[in-house]
Amino acid sequence: MSVKITDSVTWVGKIDWALRRFHGEELSTQRGSSYNAYLVRDEKTVLIDTVWGPFAREFVDNLKKEIDLNEIDYIISNHGETDHSGALPLLMKEIPNVPIYCSANGIKSLTGQYHENWNFVPVKTGDVLDLGKKKIQFIEARMLHWPDTIFSYLTEENILFSSDGFGQHFASEMFYDDLVDQGELWYEAQKYYANILNPFSNMVEKKLEEIMTMNLPINLICPAHGIIWRKQINEIISTYMEWSKAYKEHQATIVYDTMWQGTQHLATAIANGLRKADPTLVVKIHPLGRADKNDALTDIFRSELVLVGSPTVNRGVLSTIASILSQIHELGFKGKKAAAFGTYGWSGESVKHINEELAKAGLELVHEGYRTMWDPDAESLAAAEKMGMDLAEKLKK
Ligand code: FEO
Repeated sequence: MSVKITDSVTWVGKIDWALRRFHGEELSTQRGSSYNAYLVRDEKTVLIDTVWGPFAREFVDNLKKEIDLNEIDYIISNHGETDHSGALPLLMKEIPNVPIYCSANGIKSLTGQYHENWNFVPVKTGDVLDLGKKKIQFIEARMLHWPDTIFSYLTEENILFSSDGFGQHFASEMFYDDLVDQGELWYEAQKYYANILNPFSNMVEKKLEEIMTMNLPINLICPAHGIIWRKQINEIISTYMEWSKAYKEHQATIVYDTMWQGTQHLATAIANGLRKADPTLVVKIHPLGRADKNDALTDIFRSELVLVGSPTVNRGVLSTIASILSQIHELGFKGKKAAAFGTYGWSGESVKHINEELAKAGLELVHEGYRTMWDPDAESLAAAEKMGMDLAEKLKK
């Protein structure tokens, strides 16, 4: 399958409808994904990126239907992660001498993964690949999201090939931002940002500013995953700018896990308190024993207040809560208030542990935390509700 994007650009990637986990088992992808590769034809022909290894054979076979592989003059690897480079070993068996343009770090990444001495050409910002009537201009985009990432800009057509930037794990046959369900598209773009790009928000902000000062006209943004932006280019760039600056909405997110429903009862009582004190506050609850943690992290990204609850188990917390605390730390959320809660039967360390981890992750603790023994009685539930009300009041200040 190939899809004509413009007179000179053809999509030659793979839509992966069946993908449900990414980065091993780490990230959920309920709407599948795509590995976008592009063929650019001018007097010279260049292939931008490939696909994930399991689809290598299919990719190379499809590419052969689109072009005689010997007509490919250059390959650009915007980013060496294997979901975009996985078909290179098979492809390079067919065209072993074709130069691969990538960053200096890209060479490290590709040789580290495939142990092949391909004809690498290192590029940096300002370098240009002449295709004839058009040129590819390279823009280093370190840490968006790997140190090797580059963007490639096609002049005349004004297309930014943005690697993982502006991407979404979103399988669609519709290809363009204006042809897909807007709620699904923007949710997947935000989930992608929150779970993959957020730790590098400082670099995102700087890179966007740099691109804006370059005054490049952009007709299309072609990311390496998901749909192509053609109608909402300004919107996705300005939204990325907002997301990169300690983003939050008027929202509180409660994530918890429970053994015998005691902590669950506290979670709903706290939610009642939040809403009672401030009916305009959006409150989301994610029971992490069953809820998707990446959706929970997306809601945490959107929130100004984060509540984390666990019963005490073996002097610590449930493993789902240990995991989400670790990810809250790794993802580097900024400007968020937080508090902990939980039930216990004997020693009761969970709230203290959660407080320590939230503080370590850089969240601002705005409550000492609430814990109660055994199954919460009416008095405990009233105290939890009061905690919610107090927290909602704190957000107003
Ligand atoms: Fe889609 Fe960082 O690879």
